[in-house]
Amino acid sequence: MDSQSALVQQIAYLKKEKNAVILVHSYQKPEVQDIGDYVGDSLGLCIEASKTDADRIIFCGVHFMAESAKILNPDKIVVLPDANAGCPMASMADAEGLGKLKSENPGVLVVCYVNSTAEVKAESDICCTSSNAVAVVNSLPKDKRIIFVPDKYLGGYVCEQTGRDMILWPGYCPTHQKILPEYIMEKKRAYPRAVVLAHPECSKETIQLADVVGSTGYMFSYCSESEKQQFIIATENGLLYRLKKFNPGKEFIPASDLAVCPNMKLTTLRSVCRALDRMEPEIDLDPELIRKSYDPIARMLEVTA
Ligand code: 13P
Ligand code: SF4
Repeated sequence: MDSQSALVQQIAYLKKEKNAVILVHSYQKPEVQDIGDYVGDSLGLCIEASKTDADRIIFCGVHFMAESAKILNPDKIVVLPDANAGCPMASMADAEGLGKLKSENPGVLVVCYVNSTAEVKAESDICCTSSNAVAVVNSLPKDKRIIFVPDKYLGGYVCEQTGRDMILWPGYCPTHQKILPEYIMEKKRAYPRAVVLAHPECSKETIQLADVVGSTGYMFSYCSESEKQQFIIATENGLLYRLKKFNPGKEFIPASDLAVCPNMKLTTLRSVCRALDRMEPEIDLDPELIRKSYDPIARMLEVTA
């Protein structure tokens, strides 16, 4: 047996022994996606985390995702296999700065993209993911001004879709910024019949060239249900593995080979196996912070239900 198969076997054994569930974001490495009990987008993962009856959660994604799972399951052990798997966009917003912005805009509501720290969530009224951001903003009273934190591109897209004027925090995803409009133009010339799908974390100029805009979960369902055969995918390239695996007859073209999130690729079969064996590195959050950051996530889940 090769070392990869041995690790897969050991992971299956430990998972059963520890009554653990493995949640995997679709930007993870192919071999990590293959051992997931659930593979999906940020919203799907939040929903799975909110209803799991496993005692322990192994979160193959980045820190804010595992943190959200812990906020939803304070009594469970939540483990992020690689402690260095952070999200640079989440690090671009801080609770102190957000508090200051709120005090400068009295009566404002804060919509917080889940790609944020628990401290920033605790300062917010409601969370959203890329798949429900428009619905979340539409659920808020029309007479209220809104601060959208931290992604200025997702926020800008939501402004356009909802007609709401929002104060945008100046954060962004460094990986999606690498998908330049000229790359899309190049791919459109090479594959004139292909449908272009873009994630709303991409810049406005890139989004404008897309036929379809949506979360990774939406892109997956769209491509799986479409009768079209060729798709240009403008998001982190990990999604292409899942698209190809479940749609073997279709062709998926990455918009840019540069769209690789280094943090999402830190998790390996070895680190998952170690995490299951030792139940560390564990997500440890102050109970008061869990209490304050729970409501914005729960409100989001209510809007999505
Ligand atoms: P979704 O999973 O909501 O599509 O978000 C993408 C992302 O960047 C997660 O880090
Ligand atoms: Fe953060 Fe972007 Fe990586 Fe997602 S793809 S984890 S938003 S840096």
